[in-house]
Amino acid sequence: METNHTIQTVPSISNRAQKMQASPLRKLSAIAEERKKIGIKVYHLNIGQPDLPTDPVFYEELLKIPRSTVAYAPSNGIPQTIRAWKKYFENVGIEFDENEIIVTQGGSEAIIFAMSTICDTQDEIIVFEPFYTNYNGFATLADVKLVPVALSIKNGFHLPPAEEIEKYITPRTKGILITNPSNPTGAVYTREELERLVSLVQKHNLFLLSDEVYREFVYEGEFFSIMDFEEISQQTILLDSASKRFNVCGARIGVIASHNQDVIQSALKFGMARLSVATIEQLAISPMLIEPKKYTDPIVQEFRKRRDVVYQALSEIPGVTYYKPEGAFYIIVGLPVKDSEHFCQWLIEEFDCNNETVLIAPAQGFYATEGKGLNEVRIAFMLNIEDMKKSLKIIGLAIEEYSKKFN
Ligand SMILES: Cc1ncc(COP(=O)(O)O)c(C=O)c1O
Repeated sequence: METNHTIQTVPSISNRAQKMQASPLRKLSAIAEERKKIGIKVYHLNIGQPDLPTDPVFYEELLKIPRSTVAYAPSNGIPQTIRAWKKYFENVGIEFDENEIIVTQGGSEAIIFAMSTICDTQDEIIVFEPFYTNYNGFATLADVKLVPVALSIKNGFHLPPAEEIEKYITPRTKGILITNPSNPTGAVYTREELERLVSLVQKHNLFLLSDEVYREFVYEGEFFSIMDFEEISQQTILLDSASKRFNVCGARIGVIASHNQDVIQSALKFGMARLSVATIEQLAISPMLIEPKKYTDPIVQEFRKRRDVVYQALSEIPGVTYYKPEGAFYIIVGLPVKDSEHFCQWLIEEFDCNNETVLIAPAQGFYATEGKGLNEVRIAFMLNIEDMKKSLKIIGLAIEEYSKKFN
């Protein structure tokens, strides 16, 4: 039989897809898997997936779900889940009406909806760097330009003065996005810092978006939400998620909420296009939202202990720069190395201490500005106290050996 040798031309993929970042950790995770195959134990301190078990109430609720059709949920969420989110917010001192809440697929979708709702192509949103690295991907999806304002490890990554932030506001700026408490820095913004942002969004007529997925994870000082500022109630958009506080990352239940009906009704149109959020998970999560403290308190207490262990352990490693993270479950640490990416790769690829090593994230991936965070890493408090202690010991020994080899 004759074969057809015509050459197939292949259409190109979009510039946007080419620009879309892959996870900065992908390469290191692949190396970690190889290392495990040869019998090395790897402590994962690289991602925000806590090791704690999900409370049984989630599974008990699953069993109660009627075994009829698994139907689409309404695009704004199942009424029971919306009421449960309303109750959750009431419990943390925030009042929303049911029509001000849309259930989303995790906080991730809430952020994409918010960006798509307030921005046209290449409009700008100010972020503070280092920031949650997936904001880059969300901005690429929504075709929005993130404009980073640099923070400094010297003051634990707190916000700069208003005049400094103002320099980054242009005619294309539509909003300011904060993560409070912050991933990756652990900073919890003071009331005064939030007031600074409130004045700026008033003066320049901007939206203020706040990603508060770590709201309860506060170990120092007091937490203030942007929803506390009624004077900008038409400009605030709250982005939130059940993932971390109830330890249900895989349930994919988040929320976008705002007192601004234009924002919510517009975001809902994006919601209608994706039809709905998973029906079963929406139902299973409801009891946790209704009684949040019962489920979040033990999780937060555990992370406070881990934070203290990490802070103490860092004081025993010569040459590192660090601060006390006030919230969330991450810290950015300055290392006595020139290239933390090289250090992290060497640590996972070549170093071990009694057949054990650690996977941590180079901080460059959390910065948008080239050349920033070159000597920094992010450590996530993902393991139990004993394993956290062991991991920090290994990191200390690795820095010592690395410094002899490469510095
Ligand atoms: C700051 C921040 N926002 C949003 C998310 C997204 O969370 P999810 O989509 O699981 O709700 C994460 C996840 O790590 C995060 O750290």
